[in-house]
Amino acid sequence: MGAEIEQLAGDILSHPRFQQLRMLVHHGPQNSVYDHSVAVAKAAYALSRRMRLSVEETVSVVRAALLHDFFEYDWRSAAFRRFLRRYSGLKRLLHMHGFVHGSIAAERARACFGLTERECEAIARHMFPLSPMPRTRIAWIVTLCDKTVAAREMTLAVRVYLSLACRKVFA
Ligand SMILES: [Fe+2]
Ligand SMILES: [Fe+2]
Repeated sequence: MGAEIEQLAGDILSHPRFQQLRMLVHHGPQNSVYDHSVAVAKAAYALSRRMRLSVEETVSVVRAALLHDFFEYDWRSAAFRRFLRRYSGLKRLLHMHGFVHGSIAAERARACFGLTERECEAIARHMFPLSPMPRTRIAWIVTLCDKTVAAREMTLAVRVYLSLACRKVFA
């Protein structure tokens, strides 16, 4: 399926800024934002095929899925913590990564790759219920595939952390 994703979004996959996502750890020590985004794009492509979407809509689904987490910062970093400290109370909560990264990714995807309004909206709303509800089929597919893939990756991450902890305890 990698070949199909390459065909539909090769310009994104090979772009230096997208390649930089390999450096950002995401769901566990063995998973980067790049790995996660490609996995979500593959799942979204498979679902689009199963739903017999048009080529045009499938292209939109794959491009939005690839860029849904194109926020380009380390949300665990001191810099992001400093950004959050500018706010307090409810405002701080609403500026936490889970709430803001969809809109940031959408803006960056639009500026860097010229995504359409519908594709950007799918990205901006993929964190539902932390973001407004998806309104299009594209947005629902990205949201659903993101959650499914993230759950799989987080389960794997928990296993990795548990095995590391067990090794320490029984060493
Ligand atoms: Fe996300
Ligand atoms: Fe994601």
